Amino acid sequence: MKIVVTGGAGFIGSNFIFYMRKNHPDDRIICIDKLTYAGNLSTLEPIMDDQEFRFVKADICDREVIHRLFEEEHPDMVVNFAAESHVDRSITDPGVFLQTNIMGTAVLLDICREFGIKRFHQVSTDEVYGDLPLDRPDLFFREDTPIHASSPYSSSKASADLLVMAYYRTYGTPVTISRCSNNYGPYHFPEKLIPLMIINALHDKPLPVYGNGLNVRDWLYVEDHCKAIDLILHRGQIGEIYNVGGHNEMRNIDIVRKICRILQKPESLITHVADRKGHDMRYAIDPTKIQTELGWYPETSFDEGILKTVQWYLDHQTWWEPIINGEYQSYYRKMYGTD
Ligand code: NAD
Ligand code: TYD
Repeated sequence: MKIVVTGGAGFIGSNFIFYMRKNHPDDRIICIDKLTYAGNLSTLEPIMDDQEFRFVKADICDREVIHRLFEEEHPDMVVNFAAESHVDRSITDPGVFLQTNIMGTAVLLDICREFGIKRFHQVSTDEVYGDLPLDRPDLFFREDTPIHASSPYSSSKASADLLVMAYYRTYGTPVTISRCSNNYGPYHFPEKLIPLMIINALHDKPLPVYGNGLNVRDWLYVEDHCKAIDLILHRGQIGEIYNVGGHNEMRNIDIVRKICRILQKPESLITHVADRKGHDMRYAIDPTKIQTELGWYPETSFDEGILKTVQWYLDHQTWWEPIINGEYQSYYRKMYGTD
């Protein structure tokens, strides 16, 4: 099997490539990544010389380049991780989100259609469903929950999902979509909540919690997400959407307190800062469909996953230090008003 993985130099894409190399060593993986601020080629260093791995620096919006690559490789499947992924950046600069997340997906779909691909898998997010109220713990996102996106990020992802389903219905393109909850684990870019708090705490820097910190996210260890995508690729039904989540809802403030406890740092580092515009209150996935139809269950509990993640950041300072010392510094100053 030849699989194109887009966005494979980012957080989840790189974890997926490692997962696939380990579990399907005979598959050929072709990684396409534009290497934006969020892409990091050093992550893929350990497999760069593998015979069955090829890295191509390219933009998924570049029709000619992607077409040429398909002519060379004739892949069987495409797994589309490539995206602008950070909600805060989408609030300050939505344009690039529309370009990559919508137009990039459209380019890939066209080329997949032309080459008669066996599967196009779109890596989507639970954020397309909008949010749930805190006082209704009985409500969860199901696959038939209407799309009701809040941020430029989530609306660009929702638009891409609509396009993917339109290509299935109109042209019969063999598609699947997964909508996963918040991931955490190794290689997570330090602008996101968990790695940002770990790294700030290690430096005894303030831990910036938006608003009152009571917003709830449903956290899943990244390897469990990779396993879900692998199952969908091999056993999922064409034209179907699968929600992925492990019923692990936590308030932001509790996550930050937990990180303080693990690192033995004082909670006085926690600083409440201005809330995010349009901040979604609660995400919570109902994973019944993927559990009953594909037998998927998460393997890593949050207590185990967060310990492994903190340890990973302690052991891989050489991965994240160049990031926080580089261009990311000016983003941080702009966002949080301090170094
Ligand atoms: P990330 O920001 O860490 O990585 C994105 C990768 O895509 C980077 O390597 C970047 O260089 C690449 N990229 C960006 N624009 C590109 C373009 N035009 N052409 C080619 N490559 C491009 O993101 P992530 O957290 O790994 O998320 C991956 C996917 O999973 C995204 O589609 C995201 O919407 C989805 N998702 C993420 C989460 C989460 O918690 N992080 C949860 C559910 C779904
Ligand atoms: P984030 O990791 O950006 O993921 P998403 O917005 O896609 O869920 O944020 C997770 C939660 O943490 C979200 O409710 C916003 C909050 N947050 C903070 O309180 N402080 C921060 O510095 C960041 C980056 C996020």
